[in-house]
Amino acid sequence: MLNRIPAFDYPFYYVEQIENYKDANKYLLEILRQKKIEDPIGRNVSNRGGYQTSHFWSHELFHEFGKIIKPYIEELKKEIRLKDGIQIDVDGAWINENKGFNFNVPHLHPKCHFAAVYYIKFPKNGGAIGFQNPNKAASMFGLMDATDCSHFRHDLDIVPKTGSLLIFPSYFEHYVLQGDNIDTRITCAFNMKINEDES
Ligand SMILES: [Fe+2]
Repeated sequence: MLNRIPAFDYPFYYVEQIENYKDANKYLLEILRQKKIEDPIGRNVSNRGGYQTSHFWSHELFHEFGKIIKPYIEELKKEIRLKDGIQIDVDGAWINENKGFNFNVPHLHPKCHFAAVYYIKFPKNGGAIGFQNPNKAASMFGLMDATDCSHFRHDLDIVPKTGSLLIFPSYFEHYVLQGDNIDTRITCAFNMKINEDES
């Protein structure tokens, strides 16, 4: 029997639909509504088209969203075997509203350990999120048609649904593909830092 050694195992996690996603969406959509009044143009970073709020660090309703996702962050702490007393802190968030043909170019999330995307609204045939294999050497084998093992793949697309949560290392290069319908896709992205100052 082969015993797998999880060498350099990527901490990449997916929740198909979080508990209480309807409440989460209510809080985040209200933040989006307020931000669009404060700043109707939004910012342009990796997005091509669509609307992106400025980076925000605190908002009463984001705090409420934080309570909903806390169990998943606690699970993440166990998954990555964080030592007792070491915390994972959310370090800023932003909300994206894209129409079907808008997209995001490949990018990373600097100055943090994990990036996360929560799907407030994901329409049928909306644009999937794509990830490039951070191990460029693996895809050089050219075995992409010989195996389904993602180790050998150049990229990996994930089609989420409303209420899905993705958590991945901040150095994972990712992008958003164009969708096949013009309905709105709304996401909340946020960064997380491992805080080594024991509480
Ligand atoms: Fe991103």
